[in-house]
Amino acid sequence: MKVLGIESSCDECAAAVVEDGERVLSNVVATQIPFHAKYNGVVPEIASRMHTEWIYGVVQEALEKASLSPADIDGVAATAHPGLLGSLLVGLSFAKAFAWARKLPFIAINHMLAHLYAPRLSLTGETVQQVDYPFLGLLVSGGHSIICRVENFDDITVLGTTIDDAVGEAFDKVSKYYGFGYPGGAYIDRLAKTGNPDAFHFPMPSLHKGDHPYDLSYSGLKTAVINQLNQFRNSKAASAPDGATPASRPEDIAASFQKTAVEILLRSLLRAAEDTGLTTIVAGGGVAANSLLRARLAEKTELRCIFPPLEFCGDNGAMIAGIGYQYLARGDRSPLNVVASARVQGFKKKYP
Ligand code: KG4
Ligand code: ZN
Repeated sequence: MKVLGIESSCDECAAAVVEDGERVLSNVVATQIPFHAKYNGVVPEIASRMHTEWIYGVVQEALEKASLSPADIDGVAATAHPGLLGSLLVGLSFAKAFAWARKLPFIAINHMLAHLYAPRLSLTGETVQQVDYPFLGLLVSGGHSIICRVENFDDITVLGTTIDDAVGEAFDKVSKYYGFGYPGGAYIDRLAKTGNPDAFHFPMPSLHKGDHPYDLSYSGLKTAVINQLNQFRNSKAASAPDGATPASRPEDIAASFQKTAVEILLRSLLRAAEDTGLTTIVAGGGVAANSLLRARLAEKTELRCIFPPLEFCGDNGAMIAGIGYQYLARGDRSPLNVVASARVQGFKKKYP
C-alpha cells in the first residue's frame, strides 16, 4: 500500500510516499528557514503563505521522485495537530482535496506520534530498524519535550514534560541571543564540537524532587546562559583592546550550554527507564539529531537506544505517511470534515 504523507505544521512544507509503512519511495522537504531566519523565529503568517504557494509543487515532486502518478496512491495522510493553525490548514486541506478527488482513504495524524514512528522508516535498499513495543519515548523538538511510555504507534502515556520552554526552543533562544544563527540547534551542535563543555557551569533544574520526577525545565538554563552574555558585554568594555575575553569563546558557551541541556534530558529519561523497567528508548523530533544526545545515550549499553535516520529527525512527510499506513491498514479513516488544531490534549506543558 502506497501512502502519500503531507506535513505542514510549522516551517517545513513536506510530502512523501511510503510503501507499507516502511519503505520511503520519496521524501521532499522544502524548508522555509531562510525566509524566517532574519526574524530569528517562525513568522506564522509568512509560514502559511509559503505553504500555500509551495504545497502543490512539493506534492508533485514527491510523486515524481517516486515515479508515481496520483492514480498509484492508495491512501492519504496529513498532519492535523499540533502546530501553527494556518500552516496546518494548508497541508490538511490539500490532503483532503487529494483524497476526495481520487476517492482514497484519508487519515489525520498527530505530528508528535509521527515523530516517534520515524525510526521505523527506511530508504530504499536500507534495512528497517526493528522497533518493539513497549518502549520509552523521548520526544524533543522546538515545541515539545516529552518523556512517555509508548505501548503502540497510537498509544502513549506522558510521564514527564517540560514545565516551561521546550529543549529545542532553548537551543533556538540561546542561539538567537548570541547571534549564532537560526534555528539554533544545528548551529550550537556544530559550534560545541570545538568548545570546552566545562568552561561554564550552568544550573540544572531541581525538579526531580516531589511528584514530578520525569518533568523537565529549560527556562533557568536559558536565563543563565543569556546572563552570561550580558556579563561578557559588560566585561568586554573594560578588558582587552580588541574587546575579547578568554572566556567569551562562542564554542565554549555552546558546548557548556549543550552539555547541561542534554544532562537535563538524560536525568529524567534515565530515571524513567529505571522506574518503568523499560530498556528500549526511542527518540524523535528535531533535537534527536543532536550529536551529544546520541553519544551520551550510546554510552548506556544496558539500554537499546533507537534514533531515526538524520533525515527523518526534523519535520518530514515520510513519518506522516508511515504512521498513516498503520492506521489505514487496520481500517481507521478520518472524515473529510476533520479539523486542524494547534494543540493536543495532554501534550501541552504541564504548568503553563
Ligand atoms: O521536530 P522539528 O523539526 O520541528 C518541531 O516540531 O518543532 O524540531 C525543530 C527543533 C528546533 O528547535 C531546532 O533548533 C532543533 O529541533 N534541532 C536541534 C538540532 N537540529 C535541530 N537541536 C539540537 N541539536 C541539533 N543537532
Ligand atoms: Zn516536529
